[in-house]
Amino acid sequence: MNKTVHIKTYGCQMNVYDSSRMRDVLAPLGYAETDMAEGADLVILNTCHIREKAAEKVYSELGKLREMKEARAAQGKEMLIAVAGCVGQAEGQEITRRNKAVDLVFGPQTYHRLPELLGQRQATGRAAVETEFAAERKFEELVEKPQAQGSVAAFLTIQEGCDKFCTFCVVPYTRGAEFSRPVAQILQEAAKLAARGVREVTLLGQNVNAYRGEGGNGPESLARLVARLSQIQGIERIRYVTSHPRDMTDDLIAAHGANEKLMPYLHLPIQAGNDRILKAMNRGHTVADYLRLVDKVKAARPDIALSGDFIVGFPGESEAEFAGTLQVAREVGYASAYTFKYSPRPGTPAAARADQIEEPVKDQRLAALQAQILEQTKAFNASCVGRELPVLLEKPGRHDGQLIGRSPYLQSVHVAAQNLSIGQIANISIKSVGPNSLSGQYVGQI
Ligand code: 5AD
Ligand code: SF4
Repeated sequence: MNKTVHIKTYGCQMNVYDSSRMRDVLAPLGYAETDMAEGADLVILNTCHIREKAAEKVYSELGKLREMKEARAAQGKEMLIAVAGCVGQAEGQEITRRNKAVDLVFGPQTYHRLPELLGQRQATGRAAVETEFAAERKFEELVEKPQAQGSVAAFLTIQEGCDKFCTFCVVPYTRGAEFSRPVAQILQEAAKLAARGVREVTLLGQNVNAYRGEGGNGPESLARLVARLSQIQGIERIRYVTSHPRDMTDDLIAAHGANEKLMPYLHLPIQAGNDRILKAMNRGHTVADYLRLVDKVKAARPDIALSGDFIVGFPGESEAEFAGTLQVAREVGYASAYTFKYSPRPGTPAAARADQIEEPVKDQRLAALQAQILEQTKAFNASCVGRELPVLLEKPGRHDGQLIGRSPYLQSVHVAAQNLSIGQIANISIKSVGPNSLSGQYVGQI
């Protein structure tokens, strides 16, 4: 009965959540997790398709796994290889054609059927490929599965998919149409998390603020869901990611000013700082719309830390248009941001354009934007020195007697563990900043 599974996760936080639920689905079959592929009975690559290199990395990883599988077969043992996630969804059968060692291929909406797929593979001796698209049934089945113990901060997927069709993005094709889980199901999952010691939940969705889950008397908004979640005893902090500017409603903005449990951090991608490019991206908002939104959010919660995503080198982007991106990043005053070089994704409208930007130009723009964002992040972190911040202590640090936690603004904070324990929210006086984290001293418990 005792078997081992190794899951390697690529890409976004939703994949991190999905991987943890795959563990929950496999646990009743006797699978325990191992942190090495070598020697595992089942290896799952939970993949990401958002950028080109990610898929290529998967294929090269599969090459290595195939050798491992053959070595294991020579010892008379079996090792099953599975490709999950968005590459599984997008490539389907192609994966089993390119690599004959792959036993299972399934997408983000079908991993709840893993036991069945494993059975099918064993019964037929042939690879099982399942890329159906029905998130609804997945969540209904998952809510029944107990979740493994984890950290005091947990992810909870509340929404999946995207109807917006930005012209660069594969998500609408790999994760499907927007789907929101019903309110009651989410509250049930959050209550279970709280009961096992989780104090912070990060609500996940590709368009999390487009959430419209059934609440009994019709669909409820994200703001209403957050209000309900904040009533659960034990849940002290709530975050959500990723938001679209078009769905940033007034009630959600108001919640940032009114609900203490909603953390002062907002990831709100703009992608580019020029209206012509935004239009070509089919973003459905202008730079001015975005800046107005940011003003409203700051008015509701003046200390909010803003974060975003940027794509440089979208087809046809001129030097002057790129300068708009640098300008908007400065104007918004992001505390952090994720920056990407445009990568043509097969099947998306932008990939078919003739005016692709050359790689060296993209490299230059990326370096310039990253340098500026780094300065902004350093300045934001430095502005925290001398402040007292409530820090949720999450895990032991690298050094003895040290704990690492998170500030309300999502910064890592290192503290001396004396008189403190994991799961506590402690008031920490920030003393210094490192490249990626803050350090401070315990002042008192909240
Ligand atoms: N090329 C580069 N970046 C992309 N993203 C999505 N698709 C692409 C692409 N084709 C980025 C966007 C999005 C983030 C998750 O990934 O910035 O917000
Ligand atoms: Fe992709 Fe745009 Fe949808 Fe985000 S909003 S998932 S970038 S299509």
